[in-house]
Amino acid sequence: MAKHKVAVIAGDGVGPEVMAEGIKVLSAVQAKVKNLSLEYEHFPWGCDYYLANGEMMPQNGLEILKGFDAIYLGAIGDPRVPDHISVRDLVLKIRIGFDQYANVRPIKLLEGVFCPLKNKTPQDIDFVVIRENTEGFYAGCGGRYRKGTPEHGKYAGLRQVFSDSEEVVVQEGVLSQIGVERVITFAFDLARNRKKHLTCCTKSNALNYSMVYWDEVFRKIAQSYPDVRTDFAMVDATCMWMVKNPENFDVIVAENLFGDIITDLGAAIQGGMGVAAGANLNPHGLSMFEPIHGSAPKYTGKNVINPVATIWAGLMMLEQLGEKEAATLVTEAVKEVLKEGKYRTKDLGGTSSTSEVGDAVVDAIEKTKT
Ligand code: IPM
Ligand code: MG
Repeated sequence: MAKHKVAVIAGDGVGPEVMAEGIKVLSAVQAKVKNLSLEYEHFPWGCDYYLANGEMMPQNGLEILKGFDAIYLGAIGDPRVPDHISVRDLVLKIRIGFDQYANVRPIKLLEGVFCPLKNKTPQDIDFVVIRENTEGFYAGCGGRYRKGTPEHGKYAGLRQVFSDSEEVVVQEGVLSQIGVERVITFAFDLARNRKKHLTCCTKSNALNYSMVYWDEVFRKIAQSYPDVRTDFAMVDATCMWMVKNPENFDVIVAENLFGDIITDLGAAIQGGMGVAAGANLNPHGLSMFEPIHGSAPKYTGKNVINPVATIWAGLMMLEQLGEKEAATLVTEAVKEVLKEGKYRTKDLGGTSSTSEVGDAVVDAIEKTKT
């Protein structure tokens, strides 16, 4: 019997509420699918932990997580802690620390979900963004020079480039050969198993080092995938096409920051942050699964947030763990609930609570004939 050890970090804000539904659904699947065994350990890491201990997770947090088969994350962020600390010291620490280089974000409009784009249907919106997840502008390289220099407001408009008495700040976009090759290869492999079309999201017209290199690597790898049709789209144009002709995309591969930005747009066209999930994959190691929304502090404890994104992340976790039957069961149950439309949270135009939607998915799973 395959036993999967899952580390659960419910996190901050609405994280625990959506995570409760995610686990509820996984438990229902476990009761239904023979030989599926998921074992959870919950970690109280996040901003409360930071306020009590001065760190988002223990020093040896990554060491502790190493023993697990997957990480299931709710949401991180709290107004009492600067985001660049909370997020960098937990979410990014795990993504980068475990080399989860492929951030897989399906942009799929499900039936019954309102799409803000005119005349677009579930047939039109069904693609995947592969976001590089360990480097680029997220590498954390840079610095501040002459920090604390008094404001130069009165000189605005008169300045010369880099005068010798002003503060200068650098944030570097770092791309490495292996970093770029592996994520682009991952995207080609995925495209090969889908509609065989891969778009290289770039900005090589302006970023003359990093993105020119990115395109070069893309072209080189493309030679090994003659069966995959390729094209290039600048990141700004990618946004435009995602709105105008989303049906033209199959798989998009993007550098970390670009991938971050276009997947919020992707979430919007698939029905909102409430239904958008992502997998942070290290195909040879430990992966993490999370809704792509944040901790939504103002809704905390109100039981109104859509749990579908977290449930969807859970099914991506099942897929990665090789539990295909279980993953299909959840997929079908979520689709059925959304299509039926009886239980929907406010973001989807309904009045159901977070837990009612979770219960509805559980119900659908229990009713499935296996
Ligand atoms: C996401 C989020 C994170 C990111 C934040 C919280 C750092 O926006 O997962 O898309 O930028 O990667
Ligand atoms: Mg984001």
